[in-house]
Amino acid sequence: MNWNKHAKYYDWEFDLICTNQREDIRIWKVLAKEYGGPILELCCGSGRITQELIKDGHIIFVIDNSNEMLNILKAKNLPNIEILNSDMTTFKINRKFKFAFISYSSFQQLLTLEEQIKCLNNIYDHLEDGGVLAMDINPRICEGAEILPRTHSYTAEYPINNSTVTMYTSHKIDRINQIKHWKDEYLEIAENGEERRTFIDISLKECSKDYMKLLFEKCKFEIINIYGDFDNGDVTENSDNLIYVVRKK
Ligand SMILES: C[S@@+](CC[C@H](N)C(=O)[O-])C[C@H]1O[C@@H](n2cnc3c(N)ncnc32)[C@H](O)[C@@H]1O
Repeated sequence: MNWNKHAKYYDWEFDLICTNQREDIRIWKVLAKEYGGPILELCCGSGRITQELIKDGHIIFVIDNSNEMLNILKAKNLPNIEILNSDMTTFKINRKFKFAFISYSSFQQLLTLEEQIKCLNNIYDHLEDGGVLAMDINPRICEGAEILPRTHSYTAEYPINNSTVTMYTSHKIDRINQIKHWKDEYLEIAENGEERRTFIDISLKECSKDYMKLLFEKCKFEIINIYGDFDNGDVTENSDNLIYVVRKK
């Protein structure tokens, strides 16, 4: 999945609409403190979590496969960071880490079991003995209507360009492969009335609790904890995020 086209809107849109997800920072701070550095962050994007962990004094090695997302991160000029443009299934770093994590359901961008196993095996090879991996998984990706026709999501001022952005979203669920495919359209209207449209496709794979249990077992990770929210709470039938903390066997 390539986030280059989305990068220019990412931080702005996150602040605008992702009210629940922004609570996630609490658990990454707690886990980073508990398991310590050096830390490996996969799918770091523009560094939303990274910058907060660096403020806490951590040294972080980050990976993402979007040049544009990484350019935004680099422009933040953060200290104590090493940045690599690479894929989470194939990256190679000549060192091992105590703690690795993947935030914002980003592991679910891997749409096949083969890719997921390749990624977990790769992370395994980059962890120290007894090293810990954590990731948040949205267990409800494929809930709800199978098809959402093009629907207005929001209209908001986009101060970076002195423009207005209207976002339309649509989706389709592939029930056989348990994947939800979104098609988002950003219509940006400049002050002089000029229009620019950006189309973005995002797909995420459903990963149930049992599926993740088997996947971690197969890849030789032992589950230490599964939290049902970003405050280290228990898993309930209403949990929107499951935060897995697993240890290299
Ligand atoms: C939802 S954003 C999350 C960014 C950041 N972790 C956060 O929580 O704000 C997903 C990120 O995953 C990255 N990504 C998607 N597929 C990837 C892959 N196969 N390997 C590495 N990064 C990937 C995208 O470029 C994007 O920056």
